[in-house]
Amino acid sequence: MSVVIAVDGPAASGKGTLARRLARHYGFAHLDTGRLYRGVAWRVIQTGTDPQQEAACAAQAGALDAHTLDSPDLRTEAVGRMASQISAFPAVRQALLDYQHRFMAHPPGGARGAVLDGRDIGTVIAPGARAKLFVTASVEERARRRHKELLDQGSGAIYAAVLQDLRDRDARDSSRAAAPLVQAADAFLLDTTSMDADAAFAAALAFVTSRLGPAPADPARR
Ligand code: C5P
Repeated sequence: MSVVIAVDGPAASGKGTLARRLARHYGFAHLDTGRLYRGVAWRVIQTGTDPQQEAACAAQAGALDAHTLDSPDLRTEAVGRMASQISAFPAVRQALLDYQHRFMAHPPGGARGAVLDGRDIGTVIAPGARAKLFVTASVEERARRRHKELLDQGSGAIYAAVLQDLRDRDARDSSRAAAPLVQAADAFLLDTTSMDADAAFAAALAFVTSRLGPAPADPARR
């Protein structure tokens, strides 16, 4: 098994950016597991699958391919909402388990380790991860960041609607029975409410270094 860093947290907490930077720093492979759930959601929407039907949604999870995972459409709010809905089905989660385990066992590109970000990495997918981070920020701050991101992308967005959407998503992700969003007992809590991206990365790196030691000196691995 490779060295695994688990990064969990609610929507728009900045965990994806942190995970990417940690992966680059250590020369590890990175898997944004939200993309898997978004990929399933996208297929459910595209194929007109009934999102209430667990088995039908799980079949879409089984049919996930690289083409879907590369689609820029996965980042839309509609797909995010659908992902939050279908990810509550245990059969969908089960169908995506193998992919995540394979990624950890054999990180792409022969990397020595893997950084996975999501909701249940430290609790379900990789309970034995060498370092676990739980990244969060107040819901208002996360809504502010997401709103700015949407405006920067040129899509019109209303702050109050973004805030409500995040509240709904938090409630769904935290209250579901299957692999709910919860901090692992041995995870380091990183609240980035009053930190910028660089400060958050410095804090995350300090913790990960305390668990893994410093990154290899080879600059090609940075
Ligand atoms: O992180 P992201 O917003 O891309 O995730 C989309 C949705 O996928 C989340 O709201 C969550 O419901 C689900 N998800 C999950 N478990 C993961 C990653 C994402 O349930 N490991």
